[in-house]
Amino acid sequence: MEKTLDLRAAFVEGMSRAATFVAVATTDGEGGRMGVTVSSLTSVSADGENPSLLLCIHHKSPAATAILLNRAFCANLLAEDQQEISNLFAGRSASDRAERFDRIAWEAGDLGQPVLAGSTAVFECRLATALLWETHHIIVGRVASVRLSDNPSALLYGQRAYRRAIHLTPDS
Ligand SMILES: Cc1cc2nc3c(=O)[nH]c(=O)nc-3n(C[C@H](O)[C@H](O)[C@H](O)COP(=O)(O)O)c2cc1C
Repeated sequence: MEKTLDLRAAFVEGMSRAATFVAVATTDGEGGRMGVTVSSLTSVSADGENPSLLLCIHHKSPAATAILLNRAFCANLLAEDQQEISNLFAGRSASDRAERFDRIAWEAGDLGQPVLAGSTAVFECRLATALLWETHHIIVGRVASVRLSDNPSALLYGQRAYRRAIHLTPDS
């Protein structure tokens, strides 16, 4: 192992090797209809009062502000053919924030939160708690409902590129 000099650069490179799922956190309500692409979707517990999950979203993201105001959100886990939606909600497409929801198919879930069509799984949540840790809000949601599509293959992101999971041949 090489000794690394720049701690931040080493951290970013190290974490880029942790391929993660890609989700779009969406929210709607008095705080506005917003969405942001995240790789920070993490399961917290399946066995609490309700299942719970967390997201980390930059404090300057309007979507984070809206989630905190609306006190509800959907974590839309993208399917492997949804790179364009990931790019759209990461600000990589030439599209105004307000127009993003006009360019895709979605519907309101039971809590009124935007459910994106084609997602492999959608977790509709009530905001449970949030903590501002330096640059990011750690947002914990209590899952109210889950929608599962017939396609279980999630989009992955690692080493700065979109990927998909493949089965490894078991050792013989
Ligand atoms: C694959 C991927 C994963 C991302 N994960 C996160 C994340 O977990 N948290 C976050 O704050 N931003 C994350 N981003 C960056 C935001 O999506 C992006 O900075 C933000 O949407 C800026 O767009 P906007 O300001 O035009 O809304 C990610 C971007 C991509 C492409």
